[in-house]
Amino acid sequence: MIRIGALISGSGTNLTAVIRACEEGKIDGRVVFAGADNPSAAGLDHAKAAGIPTFFVNYSEIIDVYRNAPDTLLLPDDYDAGDVASKVAFLTENTPYERIKEFLLTRAVAEARLLEAMAAYPFDLLILAGFMRNLSPYFIDRVNVAADQLRIMNIHPALLPAFPGLDGYGDTFRYGCKVAGCTVHFIDYGEDTGPIIGQRAFDILPDDTLDSVKEKGLRREWALYPECIQLFAENRLKVVRRSYSRSGGGGFERTVVEILPA
Ligand code: GAR
Repeated sequence: MIRIGALISGSGTNLTAVIRACEEGKIDGRVVFAGADNPSAAGLDHAKAAGIPTFFVNYSEIIDVYRNAPDTLLLPDDYDAGDVASKVAFLTENTPYERIKEFLLTRAVAEARLLEAMAAYPFDLLILAGFMRNLSPYFIDRVNVAADQLRIMNIHPALLPAFPGLDGYGDTFRYGCKVAGCTVHFIDYGEDTGPIIGQRAFDILPDDTLDSVKEKGLRREWALYPECIQLFAENRLKVVRRSYSRSGGGGFERTVVEILPA
């Protein structure tokens, strides 16, 4: 039985699907906490109703404090600004310096509070279930135990690596794609760039709307996420570093997930 921690931001229908899959024995595990980045995440109520401990860290409040009285924000003692800045992979050269500074400092404060709240509930796997905040290397390095033992999973509403970011189904639909889907992957230092564990695709039909695409997608998510979590519970997800060469010359490396046979 694995212990699963969950972070959410909104309605938490994926979390509910995972709780149900645990109850039905489709996941050999149980959800040991549900945390949120805001106090009004409705999914917290569903978790409470299922008897699961909940907490929240108010990210917006921390960002407001930074903007109004930055000196009052206390960074965690173990924060290494150089280390975090050298690893983070979703801020580009074009991101203004002040924006980077605000992002990294407020994240460090928020993430230290998350880690503090999570410390009461030991877990084997942390799932992001509609958690709409990028995690910084400060947090990721304190949850992952080794480079080949990743333990933060995310579900994303697009067929990655297409359409990372905040609105996967919307971006897919507005692009005019004929196929949409969802992806479960491990978190790395980039935005939705980590090694892929599972994907589900479905057709976008001529009479589909953005709402119908979201609805179809969510249904796939509710099935896919429990399946991927169960693979983790069965110890069947092997994280490996692969080297590839391109036919025209040159090569690249990529961390991928190998799914071991049952
Ligand atoms: C889901 O569609 C999930 O894939 C998406 O948010 C929704 C949350 O729904 N996650 C992201 O966009 C992460 N970048 P839920 O709260 O009902 O599970």
